[in-house]
Amino acid sequence: MNPHQVHLIRKSFAELGRHEHLAALVFYKRLFEIAPELRPMFKGDIEAQSKKLLDMLGVLIAMLERPLGLELELKAMGARHADYGVKDGHYAIVGAALLDMLQTTLDKDFTPETRAAWTALYGAVEMFMKAGAKEASEEHASHVAGD
Ligand code: HEM
Repeated sequence: MNPHQVHLIRKSFAELGRHEHLAALVFYKRLFEIAPELRPMFKGDIEAQSKKLLDMLGVLIAMLERPLGLELELKAMGARHADYGVKDGHYAIVGAALLDMLQTTLDKDFTPETRAAWTALYGAVEMFMKAGAKEASEEHASHVAGD
């Protein structure tokens, strides 16, 4: 991501923060419309879960100038998500719900340029979370094998 894209992400995320409650609800509504089979994976209160997701996005967005720290954070998140039962194929579904939510919430402020910046961000999030899940499962396999 280039500095202009980082700027667009921060600007739009700040705007999203002004509609935080709506954004969170729209995200999960859209997610379960696209993929109702994911609903049982979420055990807790969905409003609290929405807040966690948005707060975590804020943490990640604040770390964009620290790629190493970001990579570690995302890999650890990916490993935890594998424990929640998240599979590689789920990432594209969540990415689609996220972009739809941004479109609905930001409306005309969600310009093609801003969409491209979020697409790049989610691509990186997805790549590192999947890598973290894979590393954790390989580590687990080597412990089981005893080496
Ligand atoms: C941008 C990507 C994502 C972010 C920022 C995110 C954020 C979070 C956060 C902050 C938590 C709380 C626990 C923790 O930190 O480990 C969580 C839990 C969870 N996430 Fe994600 N997540 C993302 C992608 C996904 C994807 C692709 C799925 C697939 C369905 C998913 C499903 C879940 C589930 C099932 C839980 C546990 C819920 C429960 O225990 O009730 N997340 N997520």
